[in-house]
Amino acid sequence: MEHLIHAENLSKSYGALRVLQGIDFELAPSEFVAITGASGSGKSTLLHLLAGLDQPDSGALYFKNTPYPTSGRELDRFRNQELGLIFQFHHLMPELTALENILLPASIAGRSGPSTEAWARELADRLDVANRLDHRPDELSGGEQQRVAIARALINKPRVLFADEPSGNLDRARSEELYALLADARSAWNVAVVVVTHSDWLASKADRRLHLQDGKWA
Ligand SMILES: Nc1ncnc2c1ncn2[C@@H]1O[C@H](COP(=O)(O)OP(=O)(O)OP(=O)(O)O)[C@@H](O)[C@H]1O
Ligand SMILES: [Mg+2]
Repeated sequence: MEHLIHAENLSKSYGALRVLQGIDFELAPSEFVAITGASGSGKSTLLHLLAGLDQPDSGALYFKNTPYPTSGRELDRFRNQELGLIFQFHHLMPELTALENILLPASIAGRSGPSTEAWARELADRLDVANRLDHRPDELSGGEQQRVAIARALINKPRVLFADEPSGNLDRARSEELYALLADARSAWNVAVVVVTHSDWLASKADRRLHLQDGKWA
């Protein structure tokens, strides 16, 4: 079977701190994987490597059997087209409306016009923020901001969605909401999901659950 993502022997240190020590990872199309581990165990570091936001010290990363691009522009393009990112902090642009935020990755990809906007509105509708699209982030609730960030992550129809759940957020209701949104995105658009979470409940819902400890899979 062809893997969407395949990572071999990833290592990453910050100075003397060896955060990741030889991590292998495979992701199948439309698979839902949860990554857990104590605070500081390297979950976000690993997610950043898988999402092409940072480079490993050693090891290799493949998307559909092709090495991740190394040049800045190619890498930007790859991330923009194939990957959707939902960060620990949403990083919505404060001066843009929700709709403009959702459309931003499309406009970076050179896509605009009625069909793109219709897709943005469909996503917003599905994520229950359709009536908040003219508002700026500071006029939205935390949950609405998160849903706008998910819509933005999906605007370019990526193959993989990476989500980094806020640390310490053990609120079961919020985990259930995030899970419902991710599961919905996956079944509606066939996107694979890699979620970093502190919630045992959310991790238990994944197809596969991986636990990081001392820079390795436990
Ligand atoms: N840019 C950096 N420079 C130096 N050390 C860093 C850097 N980024 C992360 N670290 C350290 O690497 C370790 C792993 O960090 P990481 O953010 O991956 O943890 P995490 O598992 O995501 O934790 P949390 O659950 O709290 O989000 C931590 O000890 C952190 O302090
Ligand atoms: Mg983290």
